[in-house]
Amino acid sequence: MDSVYIRGGIVLQGQVSIQGSKNAVLPVLAATLLAEGTSVIENCPRLADVYHMQTLLQSLGCSVTRDKNMLRVNTEGMSRLKALSGDMPKEAVESMRSSIFLLGALLNKTGEVELAYPGGCVIGERPIDIHIEALKQLHVSFEEKSYGLHAYTEGLKGADITLPFPSVGATENLLLAAVGADGTTIIRGAAREPEIVTLCRFLSACGADITGGGSSTIIIQGRKKLCAADFAIPGDRIVAGTYLCACLAVGGEVLLMEAPTEQMQAIKKVAETMGAVWQETDKGLYIQRRERLKAPKQLITAPFPGFPTDMQSLFLPVLALAEGNCTVVENIFENRFHIIPDLNAMGAKIEQMDAKNARVEGVEQLTGCRVQAKELRGGAALVIAGAAAKGETIVDGCGYIERGYENICRDLRELGVRIYGV
Ligand code: UD1
Repeated sequence: MDSVYIRGGIVLQGQVSIQGSKNAVLPVLAATLLAEGTSVIENCPRLADVYHMQTLLQSLGCSVTRDKNMLRVNTEGMSRLKALSGDMPKEAVESMRSSIFLLGALLNKTGEVELAYPGGCVIGERPIDIHIEALKQLHVSFEEKSYGLHAYTEGLKGADITLPFPSVGATENLLLAAVGADGTTIIRGAAREPEIVTLCRFLSACGADITGGGSSTIIIQGRKKLCAADFAIPGDRIVAGTYLCACLAVGGEVLLMEAPTEQMQAIKKVAETMGAVWQETDKGLYIQRRERLKAPKQLITAPFPGFPTDMQSLFLPVLALAEGNCTVVENIFENRFHIIPDLNAMGAKIEQMDAKNARVEGVEQLTGCRVQAKELRGGAALVIAGAAAKGETIVDGCGYIERGYENICRDLRELGVRIYGV
């Protein structure tokens, strides 16, 4: 899908099922490498990054089969040779950030890995220094090579590690390595995101001994035998948040089925402060917005349980249409404001003060025009702006959006948006 065409301004009404979480499924798939036998992972979204991870697991010798949204990963054919031969398709490694999880998983499984550097993206540089420094403490050595990184260990050894920042990816990588380390590993300053909890739950289901997942201190007793497990990936909190934002920006009422509401409390707080109705029902998350919303004074992103950085872009069109002014502070990524010129072209009044701060002055209406997606969440935010705007909006560059949404057009049509992709 290259472009999305939206005829905006139609009040939302309807219900939609929320797909499985992209950020949760990728480390879980990397973790299947560690377990003997066939793991069955349900509710895997159909997304490019998931297909890339399937390809990578297959290139390592695993058998991976898909039946709708269920993946079966059998690790019997996996060989140490494969992890070293550089056979992992470079394109799959470099095209997604999550290939970095193979570092921790393969060091655990084989003791040595050659890996091209994972992809960065326009939201920021996304270095991996925290991953590398932490893994070194588990007795891993690194060498820079022309193809990327060569990492090896004589044997992983548990350690007491303090992360300088609660990096989600570094915490996940450490977990993947530490479950195979000799002795106890303590991760202090760990990320607390729900995706960490999901990975800990999967590893524990396989037989790992992990306590404290979801808190700042995680304790892992290593070298437990890991056997394959059946596991279901929870709903995607950011996708649920996206359709919530569509309702907040456009108005109306929606039911978001399988929305993981317990993971969305920071979003709930902002939505309710602005005047939306939020009801957690047996059928899912019910959202209603009738009147124009009131802007909160500030929206500040922070590591979980703070307001998620991924939701910052998605709230920009909501804030652009709210009554009053809001300062947005982006604390996680250094380049997450680049949709501001596109939103302003649609009639928003948003001023970027510096890399971290933007000021939004609410306007009564946005007007459709042709805009360009440059990354995943920013692209989805432009679609939301289009759904709220008067007239027609065309969002180009929608390949980025497909990296995180199985079918954003189908889902938004379920909610009443007049939208199609070409
Ligand atoms: C994950 C999510 C992403 C989300 C982010 C923060 C996945 C696939 N992606 O990304 O959607 O926005 O968490 O919730 O799960 N950093 C370093 N050095 C490192 C690692 C990180 O400087 O070694 C910096 C990053 O550049 C960024 C910040 O720390 O500025 C947060 O990164 P991190 O928490 O690691 O995010 P990701 O795991 O990449």
